[in-house]
Amino acid sequence: MTYLLIKTLHLLAAMAFIGTLFFQVLILAPAGRRLDASVRAPVSQALGQQARRVIHVVAIVLYGAGLMLAWQYRSLLANPLSSHFATLLSLKILLALLIIGHYAALIFLRRSQRITERGMYLLNVSLLVHAVLVVICAKSMFVL
Ligand code: HEM
Repeated sequence: MTYLLIKTLHLLAAMAFIGTLFFQVLILAPAGRRLDASVRAPVSQALGQQARRVIHVVAIVLYGAGLMLAWQYRSLLANPLSSHFATLLSLKILLALLIIGHYAALIFLRRSQRITERGMYLLNVSLLVHAVLVVICAKSMFVL
């Protein structure tokens, strides 16, 4: 697989990942608040299930391609403070790992039935903020 193809897959998966979060936080949640609870519950359950299915595949492509891209920078990553590029790439990877941490927390909270609708919304807001920061790091690491 060529580097360009891996990079394109990474970029497309990043767009799908952030687009899904953007839709959940800025469109679905505010629209859901205007619906009656009896309508909102089954709709948000069905949409949530579908979003999870799609996000799983997208995340595998995103992180898989990300790891392949990072492999060529492994010597730089061994010394994260050696250049702006190495620092921003390390920060980007750290933020991407924190995103995985969000999902781990979400799985734990959902299994122990300790997450409310509000908690779910705040978690999605935090995920969106982290993902936007990842993109800012990705786009500035080649410029700064
Ligand atoms: C939420 C997760 C992630 C998002 C949203 C994301 C997003 C992006 C974006 C937008 C780019 C710029 C691509 C371009 O403009 O062509 C990029 C580049 C890159 N990403 Fe990610 N990324 C994520 C996770 C990761 C992970 C986990 C790794 C490595 C372990 C990684 C490694 C890289 C590398 C090395 C590049 C630079 C590729 C190059 O141009 O040589 N990414 N990422």
